[in-house]
Amino acid sequence: MDTPLTFLGIESSCDDTAAAIVRDGPAGREILASVVEGQTSLHADFGGVVPEIAARAHAERVDGCIAQAMAAAGLGFTDLDGIAVTAGPGLIGGVLAGVMCGKGLSAATGLPLVGVNHLAGHALTPRLTDGLAFPYLMLLVSGGHCQYLRVDGPEAYTRLGGSIDDAPGEAFDKIAKILGLPQPGGPAVEAKARKGDAKRFALPRPLLDRPGCDMSFSGLKTAVLRTRDKMIAEQGGLTRQDRADLCAGFQTAVAEVMAEKTRRALELAPVAALAVAGGVAANGAIRAVLEQVCAAAGVRFLAPPLALCTDNAAMIAWAGIERFRAGGRDDLSLSARPRWPLDQTSPALLGFGKKGAKA
Ligand code: KG4
Ligand code: ZN
Repeated sequence: MDTPLTFLGIESSCDDTAAAIVRDGPAGREILASVVEGQTSLHADFGGVVPEIAARAHAERVDGCIAQAMAAAGLGFTDLDGIAVTAGPGLIGGVLAGVMCGKGLSAATGLPLVGVNHLAGHALTPRLTDGLAFPYLMLLVSGGHCQYLRVDGPEAYTRLGGSIDDAPGEAFDKIAKILGLPQPGGPAVEAKARKGDAKRFALPRPLLDRPGCDMSFSGLKTAVLRTRDKMIAEQGGLTRQDRADLCAGFQTAVAEVMAEKTRRALELAPVAALAVAGGVAANGAIRAVLEQVCAAAGVRFLAPPLALCTDNAAMIAWAGIERFRAGGRDDLSLSARPRWPLDQTSPALLGFGKKGAKA
């Protein structure tokens, strides 16, 4: 049995300020506390995350989140074995706020500091929740990320493919905007799609004709926009049913593309399990096709609870524990990195999501 470890995790790379305490001990892996303070209302008027507002909010809130997490866990700093902090990729001002806080705490308490890649936090979550053994395939689909990763160890990742433009959550959010639905767009589009006919509009299935498992959602979004504009020009507006049919058509196109690309990713990396992470993993239609693809390939399908699929600090504390066990340590020279691909050998993905670089 490994030495028990209790880590504080700090996350501030996007629009959630979060702190959590995770223990890996005799009772197994335990989340002793997890606090997430979102910023949706701060950015609501701007149609996207405003980096300066996000950075300021993180700087103002991060120590409060940590104090709350420590109180909820009933622990003091002497009960901890280390501090894990997201050091990138993400919006640089926010990452800096977390890194500076982590460094300050480490300097004041003498606790070891471990810088964590935010994407590694997502990618290692199924080990925290289910004790999943390496190797496995991870599909990370959120508002800022979209990639297939083969995960062979806490610091061994191979990116098999990803979006060459928008992240899927970003596309759901834009479709909601185009159709006058509320933000975040994913849940709104999914709810409308339930009442719609996915076959009414012929929407593209981008990049299916190309080998490999890269994806693209920008052309699909433009196709929905064109269809909407054509209907407005012809009939003066959209009916409730038109909106529902467009949502259903869009969601089905995304689900079909993801199903096929996942089939291909499993061929490229024949592993025993596929796990998903990111807000888009909440989508029932997308989950259903991924489950089917995995069942057909004889592969285990894992979807962590939603609160651990979306941004949180428990995943950062856990990734910190994994890195620490592998000998990973940082000191006060730890820097914040806006871009930080997990797989250093893969060419960079194009574009920036609403949440910064897609790394
Ligand atoms: O992981 P997340 O909370 O934040 C990051 O982007 O890191 O993901 C948020 C994204 C949003 O774009 C949201 O629209 C999308 O996940 N989302 C969904 C659903 N719920 C949230 N997309 C599709 N269907 C959903 N049910
Ligand atoms: Zn994330």
